[in-house]
Amino acid sequence: MRVYEVMDGIKKYRFGIPISTDAIVLEGHEIDNGNLKYLTIESDTDFKLKYRMNEGDQVFGLGENQKGINKRGGVFEAYCSDDPIHTPDKRSLYGAHNFLMIHGIQSFGVFIDYPGRIIFDIGFNNKNELEITIDDNNLDLYIIDGNSVREIVSKFLKIIGKSYVPPKWAFGFQQCRWSYRDEQEVEEVADSFIKYDIPCDSIYLDIDYMDDFKDFTISEERFPDFKSFVRKVKEKGFRLIPIIDAGVKIERDYDIYEEGVRNQYFCVDEDGNSFTAAVWPGRVHFPDFLNKDVRKWFGEKYKLLTDCGIEGFWNDMNEPAIFYTERGLKEAIELVEKSKNENLNIYSFFKLTDAFKELSNNDKDYKSFYHNIDGKFVNHDKVHNIYGYNMTRAAAEGFEQIESNKRFLIFSRASYIGMHRYGGIWTGDNYSWWEHILLNIKMMPSLNMCGFLYSGADTGGFSGDANAQLLIRWTQFSLFTPLFRNHSAMGTRKQEPYAFDIESMDILRETIRLRYALLPYIYSEYMKAARKHDVYFAPLLFEYDDKYSKHVENQLLVGDSLMAAPVYEENAVGRHVWLPEEMLLWKVTNYNERNLEVIDRGHQFIDIDINEIPLFIRKNKMIILGKHANSVEELETLEINVIAFVDSRAAYTYYDDDGITYDFNQGIYSEIVIDIEKVDRDYEINIHNKGNKQVERINFDIVDMSGNITKKSVKVYRAK
Ligand code: NOJ
Repeated sequence: MRVYEVMDGIKKYRFGIPISTDAIVLEGHEIDNGNLKYLTIESDTDFKLKYRMNEGDQVFGLGENQKGINKRGGVFEAYCSDDPIHTPDKRSLYGAHNFLMIHGIQSFGVFIDYPGRIIFDIGFNNKNELEITIDDNNLDLYIIDGNSVREIVSKFLKIIGKSYVPPKWAFGFQQCRWSYRDEQEVEEVADSFIKYDIPCDSIYLDIDYMDDFKDFTISEERFPDFKSFVRKVKEKGFRLIPIIDAGVKIERDYDIYEEGVRNQYFCVDEDGNSFTAAVWPGRVHFPDFLNKDVRKWFGEKYKLLTDCGIEGFWNDMNEPAIFYTERGLKEAIELVEKSKNENLNIYSFFKLTDAFKELSNNDKDYKSFYHNIDGKFVNHDKVHNIYGYNMTRAAAEGFEQIESNKRFLIFSRASYIGMHRYGGIWTGDNYSWWEHILLNIKMMPSLNMCGFLYSGADTGGFSGDANAQLLIRWTQFSLFTPLFRNHSAMGTRKQEPYAFDIESMDILRETIRLRYALLPYIYSEYMKAARKHDVYFAPLLFEYDDKYSKHVENQLLVGDSLMAAPVYEENAVGRHVWLPEEMLLWKVTNYNERNLEVIDRGHQFIDIDINEIPLFIRKNKMIILGKHANSVEELETLEINVIAFVDSRAAYTYYDDDGITYDFNQGIYSEIVIDIEKVDRDYEINIHNKGNKQVERINFDIVDMSGNITKKSVKVYRAK
């Protein structure tokens, strides 16, 4: 074992010769002494880390996963999985995010940089034992010390590098469905948003826009003049976002297939032939994204669509998902033949049905193909978790070639820590279940701790049928998530915001309008988190250390000033909220109305009607908001509004930039520092406008601890 100091308070322990994942951006230097303190490590041909948890220790992290924000009591498996049924017993979803943090008598973070399967048993087999097991002993283990959970997370975020930043329009509302099949259907969606006056920035193209599910092709029948169509829809105010799948269809004369074979760009089987599996189009090969030449080749293909005016993509099925392989299918069919006319009993009958159920995403298949990493053939199973990551990296590197200073929208289904620098993620195929709103709430801070800031769930649920109430409550939470997208599966009930009754549509319209009005705050908080190695969503215990805040799992801090307490139960007319301090409750039905109320510290039941969105503004904090528009580009911030809850003094930094380039990395952005101080019975307001943002006026609603509102309006001068 070799030990490195990566930065102050972070040590890396290297076991064997790990495969590089590029998850970490800081190298560090080798040191002699690397005492592992309280951890026990057994490492021979495999690896086991053990930690005896104290009573009351909590465990946070693990990104995209089931269960609570506190993961104690669960067992999890890092193995990117295409599993569309997210029931609580599932041990892995689409991402592998191997960072966790123990919070208790001793607090520290652990990151296991290993791209294959890892088992995290967090007090499942033995309630006080944390056990991390890997069937291999080539890996990097990082131990992160810090004085608070926030500090540990922030240090971790420093060593994995800054988060991906999408274009600002990608913070608008987005509408998806599998599928809007042709020009006419897409236009109907666009026209409906216009007709019903609901803000929306993008409409998605799922797999049916392609010609027979071939990546980077367009069905001529359904989209006869794609380029003009993209322009036409954009003129109406919407960007089209096509899907790209990992598998490349095997079809003679299909250029991507031909080039891939000619250049040996696909993963290979034991005999060195391109590995074949089946997904949407039937048989496909998988590009070997772990090979940099392949990334370059595939990344450049996005240009075929950006040349048509496309500015955003979603990468799918990149765990990679496998419907079946010839091997599995052959074995299953042979079993059917053998079973003909048999008297099938409990064992033989289930063996038969299992042979079909286990056709998809089968371990045997994942173990039967190889990557060429710098000339070395590596079994897929060992690097499974960095496949989708590298597909998205290929896209991001491609965009850099296409137009280096332009931000493109890109997010992925499969991911690994490190991919957060290249793109966002969505949380895959959830259901229109109330339980999945809560799961979504719990997952967001865990994802943030692992670097994934640009994320969100399929609002309204992907599988199953949503009713209006579920869609409303879910949208009322998703309005806080950076990726704010309504998506549903083929064959399910339609769930666009206008798909239900008029009353529900009116509520959804106001909800989405609130998102646009709040965008100055949401974008500002996102960008500050991304630039300063911080989270955007945090559990309460990041800020409050009372005994209840430690355990709250259904309220979240959103940026620095807000607390969200969404309703996620059917027919609820309100909910319990824990307030660690007095807060200002703004129940929004229409964001132009200011019904503000001070709520005392303590356990409170808050009435929340179906058309109300509770926003809690923290003490000595403020939020900023503008006016909604029907797309992000139309937002106008010459005049902004501040709602502040001030006991003594509140300060806020409102960040903004052009929203389309990376110029902010060169220091080209603006910050307006707003400072409100209570002086006697009045407030002194100082506004410091750094940078070149044009804000002419700020209107204030300042609320004191007794709920008295003071209104002010201040002219803003530009920095000299
Ligand atoms: C699986 C994805 O998770 C889902 O969002 C998409 O609609 C389908 N694939 C079809 O492309």
